[in-house]
Amino acid sequence: MIKYLVIGDPVAHSRSPKMQNAAFKACGMGEPYGIRHVRPEELPEFFEYARTHFAGVNLTVPHKLMAAELADTLTLRAKQCKSVNTLIIRNGHITGDSTDGVGLERALMHNFDLTVKGKNFIFLGAGGAARATAIHFAAEGAKRIIFVNRTASKAFEIINDIDSLQTGCFCGFASPGETDAIAAELKICDCIIQATSLGLKESDPPPIDLQLLEINKNLVIFDTIYKNTKLLQKAAALGIRCSGGREMLIQQGAESFRLWTNKEPDLDAMRAGFELPPGGVEV
Ligand code: ATR
Repeated sequence: MIKYLVIGDPVAHSRSPKMQNAAFKACGMGEPYGIRHVRPEELPEFFEYARTHFAGVNLTVPHKLMAAELADTLTLRAKQCKSVNTLIIRNGHITGDSTDGVGLERALMHNFDLTVKGKNFIFLGAGGAARATAIHFAAEGAKRIIFVNRTASKAFEIINDIDSLQTGCFCGFASPGETDAIAAELKICDCIIQATSLGLKESDPPPIDLQLLEINKNLVIFDTIYKNTKLLQKAAALGIRCSGGREMLIQQGAESFRLWTNKEPDLDAMRAGFELPPGGVEV
């Protein structure tokens, strides 16, 4: 019986069903994870249905913000980033949590052996993905986070939220065209997180002037997009350690699995499941 599922709009491309079912199967729990297309206007009704029919839900675009309003309770980290990608449902009570930040943190550890504490980050982007992950990084002791984004107001919203947490993390902003300011930040940067949606389409321009990467080849670059983007191609050509978004997707899913089952998932099984064709049983 399907007790877990991913919802989104669109959702057919999701790799979560194959990835999560691989973890459930490895624990001898069958394949209880399905998929459902839910439009934003259907989300409140879905919550009421889920309350009595499911044990766990993953939410993808565009539901993460509204889910934070609809959940009965939020975990501290979901409250801090005002975003929910996981519902834990017990006895009709819905708890919302956000595993995106910890997913990225563990991906940096897995791919680069990089810890967040004490490090200087440049976040390219200030949308939903940047918000959830940067706020988690500040809470985990990041030293400095500079946001480079087309729309300044979105970056300052995140900066204000981080400042209100009083973590001691220094935050700043630069426009993508402010190359001198970005160059100065790159010199002291440990890790660039690419969190814009640029790179999803082949025709997308890179999020910053790629010549800037020549300034510091000792940092690492994580592109949250699961593709070989222009940014990653240039970084690899310069010998900069870099990776795409796959491991973050696996690690955020693994954290959801732990929350639902209190079991440690088989990460290699999840990685293998992730490579299977997307989609799953529709609920
Ligand atoms: P997600 O949930 O994936 O983070 P989002 O919240 O829509 O998606 O955020 C998309 C990010 O990509 C934002 O930082 C956005 O910049 P703006 O805040 O200025 O909108 C960035 N982005 C998307 N298209 C872009 C473009 N053509 N040029 C520059 N930045 C772009």
